[in-house]
Amino acid sequence: MKAPELSVILPAFNEAKNIPLIVDKIAAVMGDTPFEVIVVDDDSPDGTADVTRSIGREKPYVRCVKRINRRGLSGACIEGMMAANAPVVVVMDADMQHDETRLPVMLAEIRDGADLVIGSRYVDGGAASSGFVKKSRAKGSELATALANRITGAYTTDPMSGFFMMTRDVADRAARVVSRDGFKILFDIVSRFGHDLKIREVPFQFRERVEGESKLGFLVTVQFLGLLISRYTGGFIPVKFLLYGLVGFTGLFVHMATLLLLNASFGVGFATAQIVATFAAMTSNFAFNNEVTYAHRKLTGWRFVTGLLTFYIICGIGALANVSISVRLFEWDWSAALAGFAGALMSAVFNYAVTKLVTWRDT
Ligand code: GDD
Ligand code: MN
Repeated sequence: MKAPELSVILPAFNEAKNIPLIVDKIAAVMGDTPFEVIVVDDDSPDGTADVTRSIGREKPYVRCVKRINRRGLSGACIEGMMAANAPVVVVMDADMQHDETRLPVMLAEIRDGADLVIGSRYVDGGAASSGFVKKSRAKGSELATALANRITGAYTTDPMSGFFMMTRDVADRAARVVSRDGFKILFDIVSRFGHDLKIREVPFQFRERVEGESKLGFLVTVQFLGLLISRYTGGFIPVKFLLYGLVGFTGLFVHMATLLLLNASFGVGFATAQIVATFAAMTSNFAFNNEVTYAHRKLTGWRFVTGLLTFYIICGIGALANVSISVRLFEWDWSAALAGFAGALMSAVFNYAVTKLVTWRDT
């Protein structure tokens, strides 16, 4: 077996039916060029990993990287890129929505000196509409592309593409910095390194998915918005902190609704109502963060309960620190508003940093 010149990374969640088909399609277009296929599976219940391994027993150029207790397309791509042997790496969907016949064309561009080659649906000769079952997805994708372009500039017509090829060097640089959450790894790469990469585009037609279903849902959209804002601030504010803040904001509404309902409608005393409202807000914050901010480390069963308890305790400490610091600042002649704000901001950062480490063990 010859050393591979191209590593094809296929992130896959519940794609057992598609893997055998896509592997054959790739093999059919690669001709004499030695290549390898790495399927990165996140412990899919449909047996994607088993299917891949059984193919690998007959076709040793096919391998599976199986991740346990982890989810997320971007993280899966990086893991695959890091397991790759070839000097050139390409990421493509495992569901056959990406046109594998473009692979040799993209490889030729890299050999011609490009660092990053993007399969684009929005350049002449490309097309997106057929791949989107719902009109709203097509519109959403256009909007996201326009927003992303405001940051990434004119580097690419399709920063949201999930189909892109790069040199080993780009892959290694990207792996150190890009966000593990969500779908938008290419956008992340281009917005960080676009200025010093030679980027080329190859048009392709986004095909319809035949088997299985899309995993791009509400969560992925929220994570993307977080990434956009994070990149807008030049990466200064981490995506998770933004999501945490967003969740905190919803907590404010839960708090007020509970307080008013109990106090005004049911005549519960203010202090009691305020205590119940505080716990209601903390509980809903915990649950939302568990679903959205820490989707990739979601706590379930008994760990949900112990996680909630640590969350209560840490937020309690944060609140105490908030009060003591803002009182001190107020004594130092800060205005009430400024002292209050500084205390709240400090406790938000404290709560974020500590619950990240302790509650979700996200290091
Ligand atoms: N390992 C792993 N873990 N793979 C995943 C995960 C995950 O958590 N989520 C999705 N995948 C795999 C899917 O199995 C598929 O092979 C590929 O990633 C893309 O996921 P889809 O769910 O099919 O995404 P899509 O078709 O809706 O979105 C496509 O278009 C977007 C732009 O409109 C993808 O190409 C996206 O990358 C692209 O941004
Ligand atoms: Mn797809």
